[in-house]
Amino acid sequence: MVRAFFDEQTNTISYVVSDPATRHAAIIDSVLDFDQASGRTATTSADAIMAYVEDEALTIDWLLETHAHADHLSAAPYLQQKLGGKLGIGRAITQVQDVFGQLLNAGAEFVRDGSEFDRLFDDGDQFEIGGLQASVLHVPGHTPADMAFVIGDSAFVGDTLFMPDFGTARADFPGGDARQLFRSIRRLLSLPPQTRLFLCHDYKAPGRADYEWETTVIAQREANVHVHDGIDEDAFVAMRQARDATLAVPRLILPSIQVNIRGGKLPAPEANGIRYLRIPLDAL
Ligand SMILES: [Fe+2]
Repeated sequence: MVRAFFDEQTNTISYVVSDPATRHAAIIDSVLDFDQASGRTATTSADAIMAYVEDEALTIDWLLETHAHADHLSAAPYLQQKLGGKLGIGRAITQVQDVFGQLLNAGAEFVRDGSEFDRLFDDGDQFEIGGLQASVLHVPGHTPADMAFVIGDSAFVGDTLFMPDFGTARADFPGGDARQLFRSIRRLLSLPPQTRLFLCHDYKAPGRADYEWETTVIAQREANVHVHDGIDEDAFVAMRQARDATLAVPRLILPSIQVNIRGGKLPAPEANGIRYLRIPLDAL
């Protein structure tokens, strides 16, 4: 059973994936609301997930992150504290921690070994959600640490593919690589044709009235505007790099990354009891 939660502020889709037989479940890519102008965080989005989990009497085994998001803060620590479960992300998160640890001039207390997470996934790892078998694919390119979670007949593909009419994720963040992204996407598209694909974002392609986040391997192979069957790697890379050169830096990249590389934990309060984020100037 897959239940989606769309956050219109950041165009993010969070998912609760549950096994109807055991009522065990995983939460994928949760959102902590953040208003940058006021610096206020809120748990409205996460509380909607929590209400669903409680209504359905689900046991949370896992809080999964497809990658360190640059467009929203993760609510995983908040949900973990309320609901339990283990926090998992791709092992290459340590590379992202290194890059952004340097940019943020993080001190020695930020160890950059992934220890803020309970489980670091490698390609091919298997895990269980109640009676559901899940497996992990390393799909780098958008960032070095992107993972896709294949659960039953569904794959949660994070920021790799978007809806067929919108295309693919950008590959110009530090550690991103359009060539790797193409290979990762081709790997996802080699899953069985009817595999359901659940996306991390939707931006409503021009001409489309509604947000959408579910598609299939075959739909992507036939119609994805960036990577349908027949588009080769060099053509994709040229398109992706040209398009990325036109994209603005995501609005919440600095708040998001510095929180998310720490497993979503907010910085400790300073002596006056207030938490602070850092904004490097003229460095990104
Ligand atoms: Fe992303």
